[in-house]
Amino acid sequence: MSVRKGRLPQNIILIGFMAAGKSSVGRLLAKELGWRFLDTDSEIERITGLEIPDIFKNYGEARFRSEEKAAVKRLSGLMNTVIATGGGTVLNPENWQLLQQMGLTVYLYAPLAIALQRAKNQKNERPMITNNSPEEIEKLWQVREKIYQRAELVIDTSTKGLKEITDDILRFINFYSL
Ligand code: S3P
Repeated sequence: MSVRKGRLPQNIILIGFMAAGKSSVGRLLAKELGWRFLDTDSEIERITGLEIPDIFKNYGEARFRSEEKAAVKRLSGLMNTVIATGGGTVLNPENWQLLQQMGLTVYLYAPLAIALQRAKNQKNERPMITNNSPEEIEKLWQVREKIYQRAELVIDTSTKGLKEITDDILRFINFYSL
């Protein structure tokens, strides 16, 4: 997408590996833009009344992915929203297509070691980390990385704080020159 000066995208969709900072950046970005913030995982929890680790534990990954797909479909009519996706959301080609049509896709890149370190420092359980071996997680990261790279904007978050990352996105969409 090429964003013309003074024309904001309809939505901003944040993608990337677990613990890349999608929700934290998304919240700040939405605040700066005066937009709504939504998180696909929170949507799934709200609709199912279940926490993500419990969906994985009691019903399996396939059920989670089907709830995730339904959540993306429900979001597809939105405007002026920053959407943080789960790390596996864009692996499904239909999800990717819908999200891409909704607005600007931004990949928050973090090297695997940094993402894992960030995940360790957070309280929420991530079944795709706890249920997989380090080798499987590395493979997951490599496969996903290629898909994430299709985003229209890629930001390396390894040496940047929340404000800097948010400012990079705002600069990209020419927000500061409005
Ligand atoms: C997942 C990432 C999680 C959540 C679920 C599956 C994944 O979201 O959607 O546990 O497959 O990478 P975060 O990326 O916010 O951790």
